[in-house]
Amino acid sequence: MGSAHASGAAGTKIKPRILAGFSVGVQAFACAGAGLRGVGHARAGHNAENCGVTMSENIPVLTIDGPSGAGKGTVSRIVASRLGWHYLDSGALYRAVGVAASWANLDISDPAALVRCTFDTEVAFRENDLGDLRVWVNGSYATDELRLETTGAVASAIAAFPEVRSALKERQRAFRQAPGLVADGRDMGTVIFPEASFKVFLTASAEERAERRYNQLKDKGVSVTIGGLLREILARDARDAQRTVAPLRPAEDAVLLDSTGLNIDQVVECVLALVNP
Ligand code: DC
Repeated sequence: MGSAHASGAAGTKIKPRILAGFSVGVQAFACAGAGLRGVGHARAGHNAENCGVTMSENIPVLTIDGPSGAGKGTVSRIVASRLGWHYLDSGALYRAVGVAASWANLDISDPAALVRCTFDTEVAFRENDLGDLRVWVNGSYATDELRLETTGAVASAIAAFPEVRSALKERQRAFRQAPGLVADGRDMGTVIFPEASFKVFLTASAEERAERRYNQLKDKGVSVTIGGLLREILARDARDAQRTVAPLRPAEDAVLLDSTGLNIDQVVECVLALVNP
């Protein structure tokens, strides 16, 4: 479990505060060192079974939204695996459409062509033994291409088209399967699963995100500079936050978690404490 399956805003200014704990509605959780802050009420989970029939709306969803490089992917995958839930990497779907469009030499400023491409593109996800997500686009292995900074920039550009977002909507909702779903992206808690039981908005300072990305790329032998990565991250944040449709912003009932200075295990524990207080 915890694996994903094939199938698919100038918003509120985010001002995370560092607190030694966090609160969700009336509940308070101890979460050492965490910059986690409730901005509303997280609803309790529902029973997944209803008279033997699993109703999609009864399946719990945990949404983890936030800017690029905040660690959403890693945290979401570990949390999904610990809960035994499915995992949706919605950014990978936007990236996959971007890759398919570039393979087909499409004009990525043409929303009609992009919508056709979105419906035509098959995306298959599989986890390897280490729990890493592998992705195939139209039958071709595309994991490495999907992770490129240039692919992220194309994904961010095409994600600004409302037509593309709407073409991917149902595909993303189809990931909601028993016993539960962890959905990672920019608009999981605001647009795709507004009724989700648990919502987290994960941030980290742009400098720390650039440094984390730098270390990841350095480990892979890719030569980049922190300054260049910081510029790319800031540009992508601005584009994702300023688009008119589904801009990057926390849902009103999301819990803000600032992971600056926290390691992955600490963030995972904070998120799990939200689901299983
Ligand atoms: O999460 P990511 O970096 O893989 O996402 C790549 C781009 O896709 C991101 O810059 C914006 C877009 N995206 C989006 O608009 N909505 C989502 N739910 C997920 C990603």
